[in-house]
Amino acid sequence: MFPLAADRIRILHLSDLHFIGKLTERGTRLGTRPWLTKSHDFAKLQALVHLLTVLGPPEDTFHHLVVTGDVSTDGAVSSLSTAKDFIQNDEIIDAAVSRLIAYGLACDSERRTVIPGNHDRYGTWLPFQRRQRHFEEIFDDASYPRVQVVNAPRGSTGPDIIFFIFDSTQVLRLIQRRNPLDRIARGEVSLAECTWLVRTCSEIARTGYANGVSVDPGSCVRIALLHHHPVLPHTNRLPPSRAQSLTRHLTRMDNDEAFQRSCLEAGINMVLFGHQHFGYRRTATSTTPGQTPFGADGPVHFFCCASTSEYSVPDPGFFIYDVGRRGVDAYEFGWDGCGFTRKPTLTRLPFR
Ligand SMILES: [Fe+2]
Ligand SMILES: [Fe+2]
Repeated sequence: MFPLAADRIRILHLSDLHFIGKLTERGTRLGTRPWLTKSHDFAKLQALVHLLTVLGPPEDTFHHLVVTGDVSTDGAVSSLSTAKDFIQNDEIIDAAVSRLIAYGLACDSERRTVIPGNHDRYGTWLPFQRRQRHFEEIFDDASYPRVQVVNAPRGSTGPDIIFFIFDSTQVLRLIQRRNPLDRIARGEVSLAECTWLVRTCSEIARTGYANGVSVDPGSCVRIALLHHHPVLPHTNRLPPSRAQSLTRHLTRMDNDEAFQRSCLEAGINMVLFGHQHFGYRRTATSTTPGQTPFGADGPVHFFCCASTSEYSVPDPGFFIYDVGRRGVDAYEFGWDGCGFTRKPTLTRLPFR
C-alpha cells in the first residue's frame, strides 16, 4: 500500500487503548471498576491487526511499536495483562475450545515501547491516580525518565532512533495542596526531568553512546515519548467556554512550557503523546536560532495520537511514521465505521 524506503525506519504509534480484562469486549462503561471510565472496543483492535496484515509481512510492516499511555482503562492487573497479551502475542487461542480468538501485534520487549498514562495509575473504584506500579509489574519494570535506542535493522540504511521516555502521570505526595479532582487526569513532568533531557542529549552528543549503545550523533533521530500533551492543537475558534477551560485545566500537564523549551534546547526532533483522544500535529521552532548538542537547532514536531480503540471516541486512529535522517513522513489513519483507512494527506516534515 505504501512501500518503505531502505533509508527509513517505520514506527507505529498507538495510544489510549483503554483495555479492560475481557479481550473480546465490544465496548462498555459497565464492568470497568472506576466509574467515568470506558473500555476498549475489540473490533477496532482486530481491524488494526487486519490492516497491518494487508500492509505486508510483520517484519516489513513496521520496525517498532510505540504506545503512549492509557493502555488500560482501570489500571487493574487483569486489564494490563490483557493489553500485554494483545501487544506481545501473535495468535491468541481460547485453550478451552482450541480456537483462534484474535491476532495480536507480536511485539516483544525489544520491538515495543509502552508507557503509562493516568488511567494506568487507577486502582480503586474511584478514578484517581494512585501511587502504584501495576503497569511496571506487567510490562518491563523500569524507571523514568530513561533512554532506549532502536538501531536500524540489518539491511536498512535508516537512522538510529533514540527514545527519551517519560512518565507524565502525577507524582502523588503525602501532603497534596491541590484540588483532589486533579488526580483524575492531570499530569506532570518535573523541572528536574526537563533538565535531564538536556543533560542526557549533551552526553550522547559528546560520547556517541546512549544507554551504553553506540549511536551516530550526526544522524540519529531523537524522539521524546510521554502520555500528556505538551502542546494544544491550533485553533481559530473563539476563546474556550467555561466547560472547555475546566476540562483543559483538569487534563493538562504541569511544566508543559518548560518541557517544550527543553525539547528545543536538547535537539529533540519529534515528541509523541496521546491523552487527548483526538489526533493533531504541531511544530515548534525556537524564537532565537541557536545551537543544540546535536548542531544547529531545528523544529520540534509534536504528534498527538488519537485513541486507537476506546469504543466511544468519535474519531479513533493512529499514526505510522517513516523516519529518515533528514525528516519524517507521517501517515494518519482514521476509522470509517468498519475498519481503519489511511487519510489522504501525507505530512512531510523536515528536521532541519
Ligand atoms: Fe485516555
Ligand atoms: Fe489520559
